[in-house]
Amino acid sequence: MMRKAMLRSTVASFTVGKAIARKHHNGVTSLATSRRMPPAFSSSTKRRPAFVPLLNNKNHAWLLTRGGAAAESFSTTSTTSTALNSAVAESETTAPVEVFRTDYKPLPHLVTKINMDFVIENGKTTVTSELFIEPNSSVEGGGDLVLDGDESCVKLMSVSIDGKELEKGKEYDLEPQKMIIKSPAPGTVLKTVVEIVPEENTQLSGLYKSGPMYCSQCEAMGFRRITYYPDRPDNMAVFENIRLEADEKDYPVLLSNGNLVDSGKLENGRHFASWSDPFPKPSYLFAAVVGNLGYIEDTYTTTSGREVKLGVYSEKENVDKLHYAMDSLKRSMKWDEDKFGLEYDLDLYNIVAVESFNMGAMENKGLNVFNTAYVLADKDTASDADFERVEGVIGHEYFHNWTGNRVTCRDWFQLTLKEGLTVFRDQEFSGDMNSNAVKRIEDVRMVRARQFAEDAGPMAHPIRPESYISMDNFYTATVYVKGAEVIRMYNTLLGTEGFRKGMDLYFERHDGTGVTCDDFLQAMADANDVDLSQFSLWYSTPGTPTVKYSSAYDASTGVFSLTLEQESKSDKPLHIPVSVGLMDKESGEEVVPTTVLDLKESKQTFEFNVKGDVVPSILRDFSAPVKLMPDSGAVDEEALAFLAAEDTDGFNRWEAGQRLYTSSIFQNMNGKESEKTLQYVFDAFERTLKGEKLDDYSIQAYALLLPTEATLSEEMEIIDPTAIHKARGAVKQKIARKFQNEISAKYEELSGLVEADGELSVDAKSIGLRRLRNVMLEYLCSIKETPEEQKAAAELAKKHFENASGMTDKMAALSALASMEGKGTEARDWALQKFYDDADGYSLVVDKWFSVQALANLPDVLDRVKKLTKHPDFTLEVPNRCRSLVSVFTMNAPAFHNPSGEGYKFIGELLVELDKLNPQVSSRLASSLIRWRRYDEKLGALMKAELEKLKAMKPISEDLYEIVSKALD
Ligand code: BES
Ligand code: ZN
Repeated sequence: MMRKAMLRSTVASFTVGKAIARKHHNGVTSLATSRRMPPAFSSSTKRRPAFVPLLNNKNHAWLLTRGGAAAESFSTTSTTSTALNSAVAESETTAPVEVFRTDYKPLPHLVTKINMDFVIENGKTTVTSELFIEPNSSVEGGGDLVLDGDESCVKLMSVSIDGKELEKGKEYDLEPQKMIIKSPAPGTVLKTVVEIVPEENTQLSGLYKSGPMYCSQCEAMGFRRITYYPDRPDNMAVFENIRLEADEKDYPVLLSNGNLVDSGKLENGRHFASWSDPFPKPSYLFAAVVGNLGYIEDTYTTTSGREVKLGVYSEKENVDKLHYAMDSLKRSMKWDEDKFGLEYDLDLYNIVAVESFNMGAMENKGLNVFNTAYVLADKDTASDADFERVEGVIGHEYFHNWTGNRVTCRDWFQLTLKEGLTVFRDQEFSGDMNSNAVKRIEDVRMVRARQFAEDAGPMAHPIRPESYISMDNFYTATVYVKGAEVIRMYNTLLGTEGFRKGMDLYFERHDGTGVTCDDFLQAMADANDVDLSQFSLWYSTPGTPTVKYSSAYDASTGVFSLTLEQESKSDKPLHIPVSVGLMDKESGEEVVPTTVLDLKESKQTFEFNVKGDVVPSILRDFSAPVKLMPDSGAVDEEALAFLAAEDTDGFNRWEAGQRLYTSSIFQNMNGKESEKTLQYVFDAFERTLKGEKLDDYSIQAYALLLPTEATLSEEMEIIDPTAIHKARGAVKQKIARKFQNEISAKYEELSGLVEADGELSVDAKSIGLRRLRNVMLEYLCSIKETPEEQKAAAELAKKHFENASGMTDKMAALSALASMEGKGTEARDWALQKFYDDADGYSLVVDKWFSVQALANLPDVLDRVKKLTKHPDFTLEVPNRCRSLVSVFTMNAPAFHNPSGEGYKFIGELLVELDKLNPQVSSRLASSLIRWRRYDEKLGALMKAELEKLKAMKPISEDLYEIVSKALD
């Protein structure tokens, strides 16, 4: 399918204008008119034959602290052996290929079994593979076998069958990114030997080095950076014998998927281990970890009595931070049994924490690999949010064992089949472990702030995309969280029991295979005997639909009618579940409990018999990922105030408050503040502060928080980040000043409760207490206009910092302090230094230190961030560190979108360096620039200028090229 290589300028052989190579799933390439291409391409910039390091680190200021010397020391190995594929790497060129969903073709041959041998030496790893090839019985006519291989990373040393080297041109051919085996006979065992250099792999895809360990990352297309193979999910094979060999002293731990079948010592201080995984799997689920690691162990016994050995591994100094992950794993295993009747299927489940990791975590069969940020947690270093994320991500990867591994995707366009479903499952798990209502609010905030924004920009795509250039660019908020919302809609439409029936049928039909989103929908439909054909439009429709509502009450008949009208990018109307409840206007009682309305037409009216006029509470629990708005265009503030006070549905009570805050913020921005609106806001705030109708501290906290700047942005046609920041800040201050005494009193009351709580615990109640108290702190610290106020705010925050019982409180205080000026400067600088010193070099806390400064609300924040890129602890090579400063800075909207354009320029320049190292991280960072059409002309032009510079950059990775070119189209 796709190659992952740099597009290079030196071979200027393409003049095809608007044509683009269109790659079919069977490996045949044809030309179709479509996307514009960059001026020239080559597949070979990632590594040259002599293994010269790609980047001379000495030229790059922010890399001075890391890597340079180490990278150079590897450049001398392997220069004597001759690579069979070096000619491909040097002379041939390929265009960036756009792959289309509808071009899917099954493979004529399948690799049904594979054995591998990894001989790991410093600076060179030799990988020998045996592929057992059979014709695909469902495809007629045979043909060639096409293996994927990234020659910029994999150096082919030999290819043979039955001990006989194959003849190039006759028995096999090499093309960019692939090897073609001419019409292999059934039962052929193909042997390849390749060399790779994990030490030089800065892309962190394939086999690479992170600190004291070698580790792999193969999703989506990393396996081709380890060996030649049909690297696509519809080739499922048994990985029968995976032998790992390395120096025993430096690399005592040797792990792969499945069960350990053999291990032992070898000569010269070396040792080996052999692993076997009985479950056929696609190559993206392969994993190997070889390193000097510490670990903790435990066991879990499944309901049917299988005893599973659990291991969680990390660098040795961090093993004391693995316990929460282990406990979360056991809770996940139990939950999947209870909720879905799904048990674990191997005798072993291992998790490894690695520092350098592009994503959050990866569900490799029996051997999950995790970013340290989602495994390591203890009370001194992890915040409540960190603990919750560890639990959620551990759950997520565990749940993939059924929704992803046992039943996988046929092709990458189906990604939401496993990711949307698994996100839904992890959301439900987290909700059940803590609070479902709180979790729902958090998830909806995320959908609105991130997914709605994506859907309103140039990367908008349906949850099942139609085409891609780099699949890595499609691990998006849309595929993940909108995908999860679509799954949630099945659950809403079919009910919990109906949904479970559908899941059972899905596993019954498809266990052990790779399937499509249509197969999932069909299982849900068949198990419940319903027609979901209209619902299937959710898979092909990009953009956020809107639902407009209007209502009327006829007192003479007692009929309340609610009219809903939908609009979306689909030609035909979508099937939208709209959950509605009706509240009696006079008594405030709920007279119609939550009812799911099936909105299936463009415009539909629903009638209810009631005894008096009612206020509708619409889209309860955010029953569909849509924008709900009044048909009249005017916000009915009276109704919102009523719902904010009375709604029996906690989610919509919160929602009504948010709508009121939003109204007031926009009025402030437009200079048209209405006293009435402000009074509604004050009433809602005061009631919430008093805790009326509230028994959950977290919900109370979220109801007191104003909508985020990102969420507010989505309400604007043309986004004005500075105005949003100012207006939101102004309303926040008004609230803070009006209720200063009450907020102070609440803060003190909560401080007492937190103290009485004793030793820090991370249960929902204690988390809620801290959350609410920290919201109080935030309001109090927003009062800092006069020197006296600055002093008072700084003193309060400093005290909060000093008395912090854990990382949550420490971070809350530090974020407040980080934005202080004037009389608060001293406390700010003191706290930042103290926090850094206390971190004692521990990466995940140092990351927080970078982030808090990148988010500061200070006039010179960009200069500070630039200076921090020169800090000895900063590096672009570890994604967590890079993101903690640079990506986080792009979320500091007023600073990043500074009218000078300096924020954009900073990111543009940094991307030039980053793209050479790690295309996945660079293309993600570039997403901060792509929504230029949403800003005013001046800002838009400045963002666009950076994109244009990047597009013209040579070389440029395919990942980054796809993002910037789509943004400019
Ligand atoms: N399969 C993905 C990890 C992945 C994504 C690997 C893209 C390679 C490319 C994994 O299951 C996942 O979804 N991880 C998420 C975290 C999760 C809790 C949503 C991630 O890494 O962000
Ligand atoms: Zn996932």
